[in-house]
Amino acid sequence: MSDASAVNVSETNEPEGVSEALQALLADVEKMSAGAVGAIDAASSIEALEELRLRFLGKKGAFAELNRRFGSLPAEEKPAAGKELNERKSRIVAAEKAARTRLERERIDQRLRSEAIDVTLPGTAPGGGHLHPIVQVRREIERVFTGMGFQITESPEVESEWVNFDALNFLPDHPARDMQDTFFTDRGHVLRTHTSPNQIRAMSATKPPLAVISSGKVYRCDADATHSPMFFQMEGFVVDQGVSMAHLKGTLNEFVHALFGPGTETRFRPSFFPFTEPSAEVDIRCDWLSAGWMEILGCGMIHPAVLTNCGIDPEKWSGFAFGLGLDRIAMLKYGIDDIRHLYENDARFLSQF
Ligand code: PHE
Repeated sequence: MSDASAVNVSETNEPEGVSEALQALLADVEKMSAGAVGAIDAASSIEALEELRLRFLGKKGAFAELNRRFGSLPAEEKPAAGKELNERKSRIVAAEKAARTRLERERIDQRLRSEAIDVTLPGTAPGGGHLHPIVQVRREIERVFTGMGFQITESPEVESEWVNFDALNFLPDHPARDMQDTFFTDRGHVLRTHTSPNQIRAMSATKPPLAVISSGKVYRCDADATHSPMFFQMEGFVVDQGVSMAHLKGTLNEFVHALFGPGTETRFRPSFFPFTEPSAEVDIRCDWLSAGWMEILGCGMIHPAVLTNCGIDPEKWSGFAFGLGLDRIAMLKYGIDDIRHLYENDARFLSQF
């Protein structure tokens, strides 16, 4: 049928004077558009399609060339030829549009496939961290004392010599003030050598009655298996009316039993600190040690001179104080034999606690 009509166009119309130019143009239109639609349908990428679009539909493309030839047709042949050209062109444009849609979808599908994440794959679990053994011990001790009504305060690591030594009743020539024992700053401050300065700060800032604990880093020029130049202490003290050595013993026994177990035996040995009088050191029974006892803290009744230095009348108020090494207690509690392990930040070591 189409063959017949094609024959009609060329054969029936020819005698009526179809120009050769039109015949050639129609033949080329037919050939070009068939080739274009085939190529466009077969395009395998958007880039290839774009090349085809330029080749057929671009300003310098095949269709533009045919349009130029259309311009030189006789006027009476133009309407029919124009209709034919437009029809062929819209078929190519439609084919191009369809191919573009298909290729864009393919590209998206391809991306979705290549970028797909398999959410069912097991992930790499991040290693869970935990608190440092010293922090664990500190919190445990804080729980014990806050349970007895103590408040927690803080004080600075860089202190004046007055607060770190003088106010605590250290005489000017006390050996602890020596450069060999204490880190001094260029401006004559010290890195606090103990947490006892907290007694001075708390007692100077707040009127008694007081029950305070405070902990943090302290510094001494000292380094071996059981001494680190930086270590952790916790200080505690009570100031009230009628506070006696009995309160001190009762409080510390309570603490030792809470931390090490109710049956733990304690021993109070006379000792000396410039800021307490009388003073004692407390040992706990450790059957696995050849000595049988292990020292865990220093304590005593707050020296009247210290109370006076803080503006507290020692005739009216009395108090007790104690200081313990958190590192030492962590070592004891976890069976750690070298204090340096606590500060090397070796995850293999720390992950055990
Ligand atoms: N500050 C003392 C020390 O560092 C410990 C201590 C604190 C002793 C409070 C008595 C009272 O050794």
